[in-house]
Amino acid sequence: MTDPVAMGARALMAGGLVAFPTETVYGLGGNALDPVAVSRIFAAKGRPTDHPLICHIASADDLTPLVAEVTPLARALADAFWPGPLTLVMPRSGAVPDAVTGGRDTVAVRVPDHPLALELLRAFGGPVAAPSANRFGRPSPTRAGDVRDELGDTVDVILDGGPCAIGVESTVLDLASDPPQVLRPGGISVEQIEAVIGPVAAASGPARAPGMLESHYAPGARVEVLDAEALPARADELAGAGEHIAVLAPGAISPLPDSVLVLGPAGEPDTYAALLYAAFRRADAEGCAVILAVPPAAEGIGVAVRDRLARAAAGS
Ligand code: TXA
Ligand code: MG
Repeated sequence: MTDPVAMGARALMAGGLVAFPTETVYGLGGNALDPVAVSRIFAAKGRPTDHPLICHIASADDLTPLVAEVTPLARALADAFWPGPLTLVMPRSGAVPDAVTGGRDTVAVRVPDHPLALELLRAFGGPVAAPSANRFGRPSPTRAGDVRDELGDTVDVILDGGPCAIGVESTVLDLASDPPQVLRPGGISVEQIEAVIGPVAAASGPARAPGMLESHYAPGARVEVLDAEALPARADELAGAGEHIAVLAPGAISPLPDSVLVLGPAGEPDTYAALLYAAFRRADAEGCAVILAVPPAAEGIGVAVRDRLARAAAGS
């Protein structure tokens, strides 16, 4: 039998697209140094071409050709968090095509923490540009089947690494600004970053990272974010009006009408993160019109989950 990773590497070399698992979400990868391959990524996703992509590399040593300079700050963060869910935005080198950065003078790079992703990157031997493997504006896929459902034949190879352990996207940290600024909260918390490099500017305002719209990450169902105390009354009201609703919350909620699809309890913030996008997709598959979501505590990865819930609600 042919080794799927070898097939994936060959597809990348031929300018094709490969979906692969990471510890955060599945990525849709193409050769980052081939503008034609990169344009295929945008076409497959239906994503506007000015939205920049993340370059995935096998180790911090592969950073050098992509960036203007590997600064001590970048080195310290790479040592602390790579492989892992931290994306660093840095002034780019001339090797990175405009297609990857949307014409910006910076490039976003990370080393993913997943054995299949690392095997693929090593077998291919170069940087792989990969956004999340969903259609533009939809929740990111956290299982290979989600990628197949959403992108199907537009992808040459789909590597199946099972469900993603973290479940929400990487933290994006802009090292080109002073102090460094979090553009997107994610798998590595601000506290973890500050423990290594000192104060950073936290994410502020809705659309920080280019292409990071308020309405991203939305399921088909409308998302309403509310307190646990307010949920039963709202569920009664919507169910009474004949709406098929789903509930996602850290703990058990009662009483709830019998017709409600219970997507949790989602437990601690890390469990909540791991099931968030699969829960969105399940609600859609079951034809729910509304998802009532109680956010997790704003600690650790809970900050990223709250951010995605707010964006999903804004996009509804
Ligand atoms: O966890 C993740 O980051 C996943 C996996 C597949 O690695 N990837 C992912 O990619 O979420 P995507 O394309 O959906 O999100 C990339 C984020 C966007 O918010 C984008 O604006 C930001 O990174 N970004 C990329 N290049 C940038 C740049 N040069 N300057 C500022 N932000 C950038
Ligand atoms: Mg995405």
